[in-house]
Amino acid sequence: MNLPKVFITRPLPPPVVERIATRCDVEVQPEDAPLEPARLAEACRDIEGLMTSGVRVSQELLEHAPRLRVIANVGVGYDNIDVAACTRRRILVTNTPDVLTETTADLAFALLMAVARRLVESDRFVREGRWHYWQWGYFWGADLFRKTLGVYGLGRIGKAVARRARGFSMRVLYCDIVRPSPALEQELGAQFVDRETLLREADFLTLHVPLTPETQHLIGARELAMLKPTAFLINTARGQVVDEPALVEALQSKQIAGAGLDVFEQEPHIHPVLLGLPNVVLTPHVGSATSQTRLAMAMLAAENLLAALEGRRPPTPVNPEIYT
Ligand code: 8YV
Repeated sequence: MNLPKVFITRPLPPPVVERIATRCDVEVQPEDAPLEPARLAEACRDIEGLMTSGVRVSQELLEHAPRLRVIANVGVGYDNIDVAACTRRRILVTNTPDVLTETTADLAFALLMAVARRLVESDRFVREGRWHYWQWGYFWGADLFRKTLGVYGLGRIGKAVARRARGFSMRVLYCDIVRPSPALEQELGAQFVDRETLLREADFLTLHVPLTPETQHLIGARELAMLKPTAFLINTARGQVVDEPALVEALQSKQIAGAGLDVFEQEPHIHPVLLGLPNVVLTPHVGSATSQTRLAMAMLAAENLLAALEGRRPPTPVNPEIYT
């Protein structure tokens, strides 16, 4: 019997690859590094399933993959995939929601605390041997306690961040295109406000929207100018949601107090000015990077892939309309 051919673009955990290998003919890209477009196109030539994390899947790539039936993205965001082109070709796209929610919310909170309490600056100071005696005026930061958290996008991760804020007695405001039930607002202690109120009142603004044409540069010079000069911006969503040069300008001119950033407009390129700013904490897109969560993401992607290849409905499809 001919097993369906699958290509995996990263060396994923062995139990995941082994599970797929019981039912598919699998090839795994051995290096944890980006693939040359020509190599990717070549690898896709006769596959039926593609499992990928962050690789750009364009209409052009699909043209090199005439037998492709499913793309299992190891990640909740799927802005790297041309879903419309996949739907036209009746290729199923799946993602990995839920399993990374708490881990990503943890990182958003970690960045928020790190930038507010100047953890990275203080750490550098100690390591560089510059701590000669205790000083009253060292590294004064900002309190979280009873401050206002502005959650832009109250989806799964936004809600998980809002829940954490309750432990710090924070006032939680949020805005979104849809308003959840009053019961949920009550549970989260979150108040729905318009976008301008959110920007003007937040002490910490945390972004939790997917990247879409509508959310591209959602935060630009105009929005940054509405923030308080004491406000911090936290971005664990997607870099393109923020106009990075405008953010650099706002940070340099002290229009806002600081930023905690896990995502960037042109990863892995970082605006050179950001690298020199002390009031910014930078991490290399590691929102979901814990061993437990990465394994769960890869396992869920594997379940999606196998289900689709075997003609069953996968747990988390992105474009289930291909079935109708
Ligand atoms: C992934 C993410 O690591 O799930 C997402 O949307 O951003 C991360 O969890 C990333 O997608 C891998 O490219």
